Formats: sequence, C-alpha cells, structure tokens
Amino acid sequence: MIFPILFTFFLLLSSSNAAVQDFCVADLAAPEGPAGFSCKKPASVKVNDFVFSGLGIAGNTSNIIKAAVTPAFAAQFPGVNGLGISIARLDLAVGGVVPFHTHPGASEVLVVVEGTICAGFVASDNTPYLQTLEKGDIMVFPQGLLHFQVNGGEASALAFASFGSASPGLQILDFALFKNDLATELIAQTTFLDAAQIKKLKGVLGGLIRVQGAQLQKHIDATLGSGNLREAVRLPPGEDINEWLAVNTVDFFNQVNILYGTLTEFCTPVNCPTMSAGPKYEYRWADGVNIKKPIEVSAPKYVEYLMDWIENQLDEESIFPQRLGAPFPANFQDVVKTIFKRLFRVYAHIYHSHFQKIVSLKEEAHLNTCFKHFVLFTWEFHLIDKGELAPLQDLVESILQPK
Ligand SMILES: *[C@@H]1O[C@H](CO)[C@@H](O)[C@H](O)[C@H]1NC(C)=O
Repeated sequence: MIFPILFTFFLLLSSSNAAVQDFCVADLAAPEGPAGFSCKKPASVKVNDFVFSGLGIAGNTSNIIKAAVTPAFAAQFPGVNGLGISIARLDLAVGGVVPFHTHPGASEVLVVVEGTICAGFVASDNTPYLQTLEKGDIMVFPQGLLHFQVNGGEASALAFASFGSASPGLQILDFALFKNDLATELIAQTTFLDAAQIKKLKGVLGGLIRVQGAQLQKHIDATLGSGNLREAVRLPPGEDINEWLAVNTVDFFNQVNILYGTLTEFCTPVNCPTMSAGPKYEYRWADGVNIKKPIEVSAPKYVEYLMDWIENQLDEESIFPQRLGAPFPANFQDVVKTIFKRLFRVYAHIYHSHFQKIVSLKEEAHLNTCFKHFVLFTWEFHLIDKGELAPLQDLVESILQPK
C-alpha cells in the first residue's frame, strides 16, 4: 500500500504546476520580466486585485478601424499575473475590423456574444482558416499566428477573447509596417509594396516618411514642447542655417502628410476635382521635369504628386546631403523655398475645403498649431513670398501680429 501512495506523492511533486504561492498579484511599479511582473507583498493584496470591472463598458469605436479592444491583461488586471490567463473585450462597430495582428505570447479563444464576426487566421504554411461566427460561436487562434476579426453584419458586434497568458502582447501588422519611422524606401524593399501606397498609409496611420538630423530633430521636439513657437523656429546658436532648414523641411513635410492623411477619406477626386483654395485660387501641377506644362489635377492627385516630388528632392544626395558636414548645393535655399511654397498650398486647401471636417474630427487646435509653426518658420527665414500667402492672408496676419 505504501508504494502507490509514495508514487502518487512523487507524481504530485514532479507536476510542473506545483505552485509555491497561491498567486502573484502584479506589482505594477516594478518592471515586467519574461516571467511577468514581480509579486506584490501578500499582506498588501486585496480582493480588488482579483476583480476587474471594465469589461461591461463598450470600447470607443470612433477610430480608423471602427473597433476597440479593452484588455484585462496583467498590466490592467494585476490579479492574473503569473496565472497564465487573461481576457479582453472586443467591440466592432458596423464595418469595424481588427486588422491582421498577432499575440506573440498566447493562443486566443474568441467568444461571440452579439452580432456576426468574420474571423480568420493564416497558418505558418500560409493556409487560411476563415469562418463567419454567430452569437455563441467560439473560435481559437493559435499562438503567434496572424489573425483578424471583421464585423460581418449590419449591427455592432461584441466578443470576448481569452488568452493563455497574463500578457499575451499585441502586434498589429499595418501599424508595425506603417506607423514607424523607417524610410519609405526600406519598407518598399522589405514588403514589395509600392512607395505611393506606403506613404499614403504612413499618412493615415501617423508614421514619419523620413527622419533626418536626429540631434536637431531633438532640439525641435524639445523647443516645441515648451509651447513657444516663436522661440522654436529660431536657428539654434552655432547651428548651420542649411542644416536647420533641411531638418525642418523634413519635419514639416511629415506633418503635412499626417494632417492630410486624416482627410484622405473626404478629399477625393469627386469631392475635390481641383486643387483649390477657395473660389479665387486654383493650383496646377508641374514639376518642371516630368510635367513641364502645368496640368489641372484633383486635389488628392496634386498632393500625391507633391509628396512624391518632395520626397525625391529629399532623397537627392546632392540637394539634401545625408552625411554630416557634406556641403549643401548653392541653390539649396531655392529648393527649400519651392517645397515650402507648395506645402503651403496643402494648408490653404485644407482650410478652405475641409475645415468643417477638421472641426468635426476635433483636429482644429492641432491644425492651427501646425500652421502657426509653419507660418512662423517660413516668415523667420523668408521662405514664401507674401503674394503666395494671399489665400490665407487674414489667418497669416493674425499669426504674425506681435503679441
Ligand atoms: C471616442 O473617441 C473619439 C476620438 O478620439 C472622441 O472624439 C470621442 O469623444 C470619444 N467618445 C467617447 C464617448 O469617449
């Protein structure tokens, strides 16, 4: 009799889940390691650490993907730390989508509670597994595989996802590719997508098209952070004027691309058949090389031409030298002036044709700050002739008024 009891005893001991502690409530003040967060002292653990009350509330789906994920992972729900489980709420408005993503740390079980969700994953051998799930259906997504969920119905959908880890992680493919600051060219090389599409998605998702002059860029970010735009545009003492112009050109280019990116849905060839700034001003496109005679194009086409043209200038080593200390060409400031003159037109178009939309997106404060920075900078370095500013004259004057 002794033998089977001992055997059972050893079996229990050797079971890998034999816990030394009952639980390990996350100490969120300490850093997270590969095994999760450190444990809070048991004496300070309260029942609230094991309860999470946020999942009864619908997430805010007013965003680009029309979806919201509310996680109750270890970082939000300290009680699950160390237990190898967690849960999240998923809200999908009509047309909502959780784009291709992976959870590097866990497999997922999805339970549909309301509505219809079309879900799928792609296995390592590229076989897709796709299903339309109705209320009460469950689907599993194996660890690490790319998967997605789309609202397939006419009403909003609700689901809960549980995970085999307290910190499953989340990496969204489009964000990884287009919300970063890698050079467009490198993304094109590594994804086989064409540059125009990449730039458009960077605009929509907020990635920077280019990064130049890391030190000066830090200076810009720091001075902008101080809120004093007049101070922020000045040439920092001891810096080269051309370096300063170059870094700011890249910065304003990225900014305009992201601002315009929020409008691509509304600024279409149908809504904006010409690149106009009010009834009196219309811009035609010519780059002097490929298109010599100015052509009438829609606003989105104009902006596409413009952004491509600017990026080509920025890529031209003989105009924007990449090596520190390499000389700038004699006509450098003329190139910069042309870039700023044309970037101004995007602002002029946004203010005249899309300001209502900007207001409804609650972006007007941001637009005004960006434009104010732009005007103060171009004024400081005499980059745009006064006549060019006419479509936004009142606004420009109010910005330049000494306070
Ligand atoms: C939802 O998010 C949008 C965009 O960020 C915001 O404007 C809106 O106020 C939010 N709605 C609620 C109810 O929080």
